[in-house]
Amino acid sequence: MPTAMSPERASAVIFTVLLTIVFAVSCGPGQTAKEPAPAAPVATSAPVLAPVPPMGFNTWNKFGCNVDEVLIRQTADAMVETGMLEAGYTYLVIDDCWQVDRTPQGRIIADPKRFPGGMKALADYVHSKGLLFGLYSDIGPKTCAGRPGAAGHFDIDAAAYAEWGIDYIKVDWCNCDDLNAPAEYARFRDALRAAGRPIVLSLCEWGRNDPWTWAKGVGQLWRTTSDIGDEWQSVVWIAAANNLHADAAGPGGWNDPDMLEVGNGGMTFDEYKTHFSLWTLMAAPLMAGNDLRAMTAETKSILLNKEVIAVDQDTLGVQGRIVIDRGYGGQVWMKPLADGSRAVAFVNYGQRELAQYVRWSQIGVPPGPARVRDLWAHADMGVHTDLGKTFDERLEVKVPSHGVVMLRIWPDGAAK
Ligand code: GLA
Repeated sequence: MPTAMSPERASAVIFTVLLTIVFAVSCGPGQTAKEPAPAAPVATSAPVLAPVPPMGFNTWNKFGCNVDEVLIRQTADAMVETGMLEAGYTYLVIDDCWQVDRTPQGRIIADPKRFPGGMKALADYVHSKGLLFGLYSDIGPKTCAGRPGAAGHFDIDAAAYAEWGIDYIKVDWCNCDDLNAPAEYARFRDALRAAGRPIVLSLCEWGRNDPWTWAKGVGQLWRTTSDIGDEWQSVVWIAAANNLHADAAGPGGWNDPDMLEVGNGGMTFDEYKTHFSLWTLMAAPLMAGNDLRAMTAETKSILLNKEVIAVDQDTLGVQGRIVIDRGYGGQVWMKPLADGSRAVAFVNYGQRELAQYVRWSQIGVPPGPARVRDLWAHADMGVHTDLGKTFDERLEVKVPSHGVVMLRIWPDGAAK
């Protein structure tokens, strides 16, 4: 039975169809059109692969090398059943350890014990669920876990990925010694292009070679720091480090402060909310790193908070940044959004609850009334007017220790 479609959903579908048509015409493999219409404009560039930060799931943070096709199929099922796919988590990515060897001809071999059906069949299954599929490699001869890397095999690997139907490849930097990162990753990009399938390229050289200065146009996301851990201090320093490179991010190219730890057990509920809020404020790729087959209600309430996800996925594509650092544990982050509103996160790094104040002028809101909504409480907080004259007219929020209050503020005149 046909079901009703919301106007937003309908326009999203139309947009997707148009994109597909544009892509098929400009660079789809095996296109069959015989002669271009005389007046048709010539498409000169491929469509932007990551107009908003990629979202999905990656095996590494929870499962490490313990990956197999049963886990991937179950995770694909879970991504649909839990609503993760519907919330925007599209890419299902196997990190290190899927590969064991190469054939004498150099073709990469997936572990036959753990992936007996092979990668093509697994990709087909993942695609049948409406998801996109990703793998992991390394610029060097061996990955960080000692598996075969891509060195000397960029072209043959890219061809295999295209043949299997891979949509996303994370490429690490272990065992690369003195190699030139911009040159190597550009060669990898060119190999992907030559293979003829649009594949998101996720650079993972941990910020060693200042990727924020060169990686845009090479890949769609680039790590800015070393690995995240499932602990609060890790979130704190990664956020501070990633904040320094906000200028480099934008549609098609994103700073990657590493994958999410939400739901892995090493942090409190408030700390995970802060972790997730900061990543969305920073327009970070949102790659869940927990077991999606067994999520608690608390974990779901974080990963599936669509109002917070919308901040990350906003089409303006600006990476938010710290606008106030109070020096005693309080910070305010702000991200401007496409409809003229502002996402604002009040973070408390201290040990006790902290009342924080802000003036409109400090968060780029023009003087006058503005509508305020709390994105974690899912509650409207009414219309506030900051005249900047009296203490009482400043907005106050109470932030728990290691917690966050995240607001969206629509100045009068911004789209509702
Ligand atoms: C590096 C990367 C991690 C992960 C592991 C896999 O440490 O930074 O994200 O991919 O390798 O071995």
